Amino acid sequence: MSEQDHIIETFTEMASRYESLMNSELNRLWGVSYLDFIQELINEIDFVGYQNILDIATGTAFIPQYLTAQKIPYHHVVGLDLTFEMLSNAKEQIGKNNNNSSIQLVCASAHAMPFKKHTFDVVTCCLATHHMNVDLLLRNSYSSLKPNGMFHAADVGGSKKWKIGIIRTLIKVVAFVYFMFAENLTRARAESEAIANILTVSEWREVIKAQGFVSIKARELKSKRFWAPNPIIIEAKKPMMEERK
Ligand SMILES: C[S@@+](CC[C@H](N)C(=O)[O-])C[C@H]1O[C@@H](n2cnc3c(N)ncnc32)[C@H](O)[C@@H]1O
Repeated sequence: MSEQDHIIETFTEMASRYESLMNSELNRLWGVSYLDFIQELINEIDFVGYQNILDIATGTAFIPQYLTAQKIPYHHVVGLDLTFEMLSNAKEQIGKNNNNSSIQLVCASAHAMPFKKHTFDVVTCCLATHHMNVDLLLRNSYSSLKPNGMFHAADVGGSKKWKIGIIRTLIKVVAFVYFMFAENLTRARAESEAIANILTVSEWREVIKAQGFVSIKARELKSKRFWAPNPIIIEAKKPMMEERK
């Protein structure tokens, strides 16, 4: 089975309890609620005048629902995710809340997104970049954004020490054992495989710049747990005139 299969299996199993599980995991890891963390990302975004928003790895579409219910009721939000079951759950919630007019759900990978160039004003991606090839995610986000469009992401960040082979292996083992006991084998595999994709703030700045983004801001939030890796919030703009090949 590939890394992507492990991700799909993990989130298929988790879909029905996803939001409550995230709430307790983020509280344990960073000392924040799921809602507080999502708000930390959303509060960075200036939605004025923006019409089309893409939420990559939308999961149960918490962000699209939050945006259309509270922040920007008249905008169009697309939620894309690899795991069909997460989107089914999203669809059910959206239906219940009678909120489906401006949210569209798409089952696809961020590594191969089915959108035309220059479609979106804002792209968001929360708690998911560590499951992805970040270069591909950024390249595809850049392409789907309109000139002057904004990319916003929030996720766990890494430390320079993690790049040392033996430390990285140790962290992978710790993640595997932790999720094996706290959750199950598929989650343990998916989370330990994800360790390789976790970037530091300076790595984020480099990879975003390499894709042609400008006005890059990457900042670390402070976890309330001394032993936990800090979360990172990233913001970048696609320039008006494309400088990238
Ligand atoms: C931890 S959840 C985050 C969900 C949501 N963004 C949130 O903040 O609650 C990670 C999500 O990333 C999705 N995912 C992982 N790799 C992906 C990829 N390559 N393309 C699209 N979605 C992906 C998973 O299916 C899962 O729903």
